[in-house]
Amino acid sequence: MRSFRAAIVTVSDTGFAGERVDESGPLIRDMLIQGGYEVVLYRILPDERTELAAYLRDLCDRHEADLVLTTGGTGFSPRDYTPEATLDIAERLVPGIPELMRAYSLQKTDRAILSRSVAVIRKQTLIVNLPGSPRAAQENLESILPALEHGLAILGGTAHNCARPLGSV
Ligand code: MTE
Repeated sequence: MRSFRAAIVTVSDTGFAGERVDESGPLIRDMLIQGGYEVVLYRILPDERTELAAYLRDLCDRHEADLVLTTGGTGFSPRDYTPEATLDIAERLVPGIPELMRAYSLQKTDRAILSRSVAVIRKQTLIVNLPGSPRAAQENLESILPALEHGLAILGGTAHNCARPLGSV
């Protein structure tokens, strides 16, 4: 099977300013590589809604990646606008992804409800928001990784058949 191209966008004012070392981006990168993805881009951006939306739009419109994972900016802080920036450029919503991430995360912490993550499709790219802390990013990503590949294959036109034999998982 071909490997999908993934981009990682860490959204953090302090990370962008060099005041904090980004641990989540490299952790996500390692998980993706382990899962067979080709990580083609890693970028740190500030919590600026318009700039982030424009950046995500360009990634999708140039089809630079099949999957874009953002990390950070999904909470309640005054500058947390990652979900809104993602929705600004969305063509289609993928509610099942954040539904699973929060259901899985609720088994780890009640605070899972504080992540406002969304997942959307624009053209042939899937964008998924992950929370910002390394642990939260890891737990959210591990919950969705098993099902992602099939979705990306359908999005990219390399898979059409969702049928699984009865009794399989
Ligand atoms: N999800 C998991 N699996 N594990 C966590 O520790 N932390 C929560 C939530 N989701 C957490 C989690 C907390 S405390 C917050 S504030 C939100 O993610 C938003 O995080 P963000 O603002 O860094 O994006």
